[in-house]
Amino acid sequence: MKAIETKDLFKRFEDVEAVKGINLEIEEGELFGLLGPNGAGKTTTISMLCTIVKPTSGSASVFGHDVKKESSTVRGMIGIVFQDPSLDDNLTGKENLDFHGRLYKVPRNEIAGRISEVLELVELADKANVIVKKYSGGMKRRLEIARGLLHHPKVLFLDEPTLGLDPQTRRHIWEYIEKLNREKKITMILTTHYMDEADQLCDRIAIIDHGQIVAMDTPENLKHDVGGDVVIMTVPNGSEQLKTKLEQLEFVKSTQLVDGTLRLSVDKGETAIPIFMDVARQEGIAVPSIALHEPTLEDIFIKYTGREIRTQEAASGFAGFHGPGRR
Ligand SMILES: Nc1ncnc2c1ncn2[C@@H]1O[C@H](COP(=O)(O)OP(=O)(O)OP(=O)(O)O)[C@@H](O)[C@H]1O
Ligand SMILES: [Mg+2]
Repeated sequence: MKAIETKDLFKRFEDVEAVKGINLEIEEGELFGLLGPNGAGKTTTISMLCTIVKPTSGSASVFGHDVKKESSTVRGMIGIVFQDPSLDDNLTGKENLDFHGRLYKVPRNEIAGRISEVLELVELADKANVIVKKYSGGMKRRLEIARGLLHHPKVLFLDEPTLGLDPQTRRHIWEYIEKLNREKKITMILTTHYMDEADQLCDRIAIIDHGQIVAMDTPENLKHDVGGDVVIMTVPNGSEQLKTKLEQLEFVKSTQLVDGTLRLSVDKGETAIPIFMDVARQEGIAVPSIALHEPTLEDIFIKYTGREIRTQEAASGFAGFHGPGRR
């Protein structure tokens, strides 16, 4: 049986079609990532799986239990770490967990043991009796993860688990996530707009954009799909002619003009660059900079959507961004 299964899952909020027909099959024990820019529909998708938001149409199930018809069974099987912090700042770490335990009807005689267990897991045992107001951002996130685990869920949903945290704390959180997945065999679905996060953590990724899955596979396969090297040339407006010329070179696998850059996928970047520069010179086009890197998930995203996930776009919370390459 699949841990998660969705069929043509669809959600409309008044005039916004947030999720437009998502089909997923996630295996037990998988660490699965939903990757996409702001407003792509990530939170809406997992909110439907968590029974918080009702699907407009289509279906979704958690270990065979329908999210609409068996919502309380589903709720008992899942843990959630929300995008927006939802701890009570005026309670201690331990009190927050205790409250959650009552809410989820964890047996009274087990609750103390479980609280110690999860606090140990996220290395907050020594902060158990400290008021949450005094926690750092990273500590709060860890406490939220601990809380999500208290009732021993089979599936844990993490919505942007490292949003707004510094790089070191992010890595720390990644370690917990990996450890939980590996040692406790908890199926995990996380959402992120950080490419590196998805790449590092996930067994499989679905890239979603405008409410639809545009690509789904392991990070390795997705990157292999682009293959070779990616050369990025900064070019002036009106460089379509240069693009056409370079496309004709037999070692060029694909080209894309995105926001003032010409992106070329080639087998060997080092040999391609001097040739590209020669062609640009012949065309009378100035190229202020040229760079080379191995394919990343960013390249996959650009390949499928024709635009970049920009950090400022992600940070601004600007939903419904429509880039030039919208299909
Ligand atoms: N309760 C709501 N009412 C109306 N529109 C909503 C609601 N929730 C989400 N939306 C809209 O649905 C779309 C998808 O939003 P969602 O929160 O799922 O995106 P997301 O991928 O999680 O983005 P982010 O990276 O910002 O968290 C957006 O256009 C958003 O404005
Ligand atoms: Mg979200």
